[in-house]
Amino acid sequence: MGEQEALPIILKGLKRLEYRGYDSAGVALIRDNNLLVYKKKGKVAELENYLQDKVQTGSIGMGHTRWATHGEPNDTNAHPHYSSDNRLALIHNGIIENYASIKQELLRKGHHFLGQTDSEVFIHFIEQIQKENECSLFEAVRIALNEVVGAYAIVVMSADAPNQLLAARKSSPLVIGIGKDRQEFWLASDATPIIEYTNEVVYLDDLQIAVMQKGSLEIKDIRAALGDVVSTPYIQYLDLTLDAIEKGGFDSFMLKEIFEQPESVRNCLRGRLIASTQHLQLGGITKHIDKLLNAKRIIILGCGTSWHAGLVAEYIFEELARIPVEVEYASEFRYRNPIINPDDAVIAISQSGETADTLAAIDLAKSRGATIFGVCNVVGSSIARATHEGAYTHAGPEIGVASTKAFTAQVTVLLMMALVIAKKRGTVSDAQFSELLYELENIPEKIAKALQFNAQIEDIAKIYKNASNMIYLGRGFNFPVALEGALKLKEISYIHAEGYPAAEMKHGPIALIDAEMPVVFIAIKDSSYEKVVSNIQEVKARKGRVIAIVNEGDTFIATMADHVIEIPSTYEILTPLLTVIPLQLLAYHIAVMRGCNVDQPRNLAKSVTVE
Ligand code: AGP
Repeated sequence: MGEQEALPIILKGLKRLEYRGYDSAGVALIRDNNLLVYKKKGKVAELENYLQDKVQTGSIGMGHTRWATHGEPNDTNAHPHYSSDNRLALIHNGIIENYASIKQELLRKGHHFLGQTDSEVFIHFIEQIQKENECSLFEAVRIALNEVVGAYAIVVMSADAPNQLLAARKSSPLVIGIGKDRQEFWLASDATPIIEYTNEVVYLDDLQIAVMQKGSLEIKDIRAALGDVVSTPYIQYLDLTLDAIEKGGFDSFMLKEIFEQPESVRNCLRGRLIASTQHLQLGGITKHIDKLLNAKRIIILGCGTSWHAGLVAEYIFEELARIPVEVEYASEFRYRNPIINPDDAVIAISQSGETADTLAAIDLAKSRGATIFGVCNVVGSSIARATHEGAYTHAGPEIGVASTKAFTAQVTVLLMMALVIAKKRGTVSDAQFSELLYELENIPEKIAKALQFNAQIEDIAKIYKNASNMIYLGRGFNFPVALEGALKLKEISYIHAEGYPAAEMKHGPIALIDAEMPVVFIAIKDSSYEKVVSNIQEVKARKGRVIAIVNEGDTFIATMADHVIEIPSTYEILTPLLTVIPLQLLAYHIAVMRGCNVDQPRNLAKSVTVE
């Protein structure tokens, strides 16, 4: 809001945020006390075309690029959303967990919804509160924010208050750019769209609500108990380049996404797992859950990193739910004339949701009567729509071609699926169920702890950056992680690498061991620890160079390995969520030191939509 025409600034800002990944875009303007909302599925460029013959003027407005969480990408579900009386508009970044119950209440009060999003429910909720309490927009927004559960960054505007913008946040980022004498304000998820107008910004804190009017910026706390205390905004002066901001200060999207994993796993658990109440539910797996519960066999389909997540899930499902699992390369499965029985359940895993081989494998399994469950990151993607039911990983857009945060989110969703089934089948004790719920809630923090060894891993990478081969070894739940570690190194550093079950060494690969062969061991204190120790000794006996991932405080392995990288301890079944972190970082630093383009490695695409 300010002196200038809002729309060109908003459209330019949306383009600056395109790097974050999105599936639809929209704008809202206030003109002559009327609310004008324009939104389109697809790129900002398509929205611009759509706006060609539309009213475009007004000095207050807002825009949004949507990354679908609830409701597939289309014009209706795009933001901004507006109230039933067309007087209020809202843009929202985040997830409202209790939107379904609020929606029921509003439907009972006669509200009608155009789309399937939690955000549309949000603005109708604010409208209803304002009507029922005959209060100001600020008060209605504050009351609503005390009722909703979840994550949000919102901006609200009203055609009846054309010189005011309201914004609030909890968990999702929100920054306010301040113009000269507070005559203009720019708001965005990060400073990328703001930096060319001002370097004076306020990063809103959690549970803060900001009221912007010409000449004033007031920041208050949403908790009514704190009344109307206006806190002095903490103004920061940005000295950043655009590129740096897009990557959140990281050198690449891949490194940013590796460091986002504590938050992305937290988002994956959000609203689904609450240990204190033993609550565990995957809202998207209800109608067909019997197919999973009574499945004689579970077939898991995927490619690349998603296939590795499926392999971890094989161990998890068989351990917890006691259902036999087969993990299939989708590209092989689709041409193998596989035997599929009606009581087979199929789980298809895909970050992009657009991988051609996985899609075709799904169609084949479906045509033979199997029920298909999807685990996807991109909402509304082809695979999400092709499956009967499923669960989104909520890891947020993954830009780096090498998948990192999607892997830990996939394993987290698959763990929750297995626990839900195990609980219903009675194959897990109440004690074990409870312990795993509490420990899963601790995983984001433990990932953050594992990330603290980044500098040490960088030093180790310096030693191995000129390696021409590398072997990764793990056992049990961590055999698939060894495969994943090898894949990360291959795809971004172009070093030939292989992952193996550690015990397989003696059946061939040990012939490769000499003083030139670096071997990465996942040697955490689990049921196969002793076995891994002897595997390390076998490699050391042949002058192999050993990098070992160990539990914090393990000094024994350090006496035989060339390098040890510590990770926090956790239950064996959860260790893949931690052991993969140092492997991602090791591959990353080696690739950077070899001058590789880690975000866009040669010959690779983020989504393989052709076979
Ligand atoms: C992993 O880093 C690669 N980008 C690739 O192997 C990827 O996992 C594979 O193409 C599957 O993609 P999807 O999860 O989007 O289906």
